[in-house]
Amino acid sequence: MTATLERRIEVLKLAREHDFIVLEDDPYFYLYYGTAPRTPSYFSLEPQILPETGRVLRFDSFSKVLSAGMRIGFASGPDPILSAIEKHTATSNLQVSSLTQVIAAKLLDSWGYEGFKTHTERVSEFYREKRDVFQAAMVKYLDGYAEWVKPEAGMFFWFKLNLTSGSDLKDTGDSESVIRTTAFEKGVLALPGKVFLPNGNKTAYVRASFSLSPEADVYEALSRLRAALIEVRVLERFCLLRGSFNPRKPSICPEPPSLLASPDSSEDELGLTLTSDGLVLPL
Ligand SMILES: Cc1ncc(COP(=O)(O)O)c(C=O)c1O
Repeated sequence: MTATLERRIEVLKLAREHDFIVLEDDPYFYLYYGTAPRTPSYFSLEPQILPETGRVLRFDSFSKVLSAGMRIGFASGPDPILSAIEKHTATSNLQVSSLTQVIAAKLLDSWGYEGFKTHTERVSEFYREKRDVFQAAMVKYLDGYAEWVKPEAGMFFWFKLNLTSGSDLKDTGDSESVIRTTAFEKGVLALPGKVFLPNGNKTAYVRASFSLSPEADVYEALSRLRAALIEVRVLERFCLLRGSFNPRKPSICPEPPSLLASPDSSEDELGLTLTSDGLVLPL
């Protein structure tokens, strides 16, 4: 999710008014592949809109554009803070490995800024293609099961599962209850949004990475995620029909949906077919 220009300006004004520091953690800056001009960073906006600067500390990373294991980046901000960071890292982790620093410095030296920019454009184009594959698979398998905004930078989809369709809890849900159970059992690895919330609250959001998986795996994974979501819906439906379902405590109704046998065959709005043998899932 990208903060709008208006929001950034508002945050910077608040930082000045209440004298707090903005930590701009922006490791995907060089992986932008959107078509609209990129929103300016807090760091570059501060001198444009405020009479004084020094309340933005910006963090960039080379890990996403040079090599994933490098774990090296750079900070930009007021000198006193940078020098405090420098002293702190010197005494806490003895700085980033010297070898890593030398490799990064030599590479950047030989490229120059233009060479670095050309490289990042190539890398972001690589991720744009991966994003397009993932987007197509999302549309194919998760339309109606999830909501999302197509990312314009980085290597992740952040999407909301429609976990409680048909109930009165439309905008809530706990993605962890599917992601760490049914989806995981089907071999799908993604992170429940809860791990990104400072307060650890439940959320229906999920973060899935598209950096590594080949196209066939993306389609397979999202088709399995769809199957997991259908299973959860079937269970919900079954429990609702039994009149004992409590969406906040699904474990109180653990019977398998195959018990939902019916003498007639019919298809409901979930696309589930009820037959005398049980439920047929539309996979
Ligand atoms: C938002 C965010 N900040 C920081 C990092 C860490 O970057 P680095 O690999 O440079 O340690 C990551 C990813 O690993 C990230 O997603």
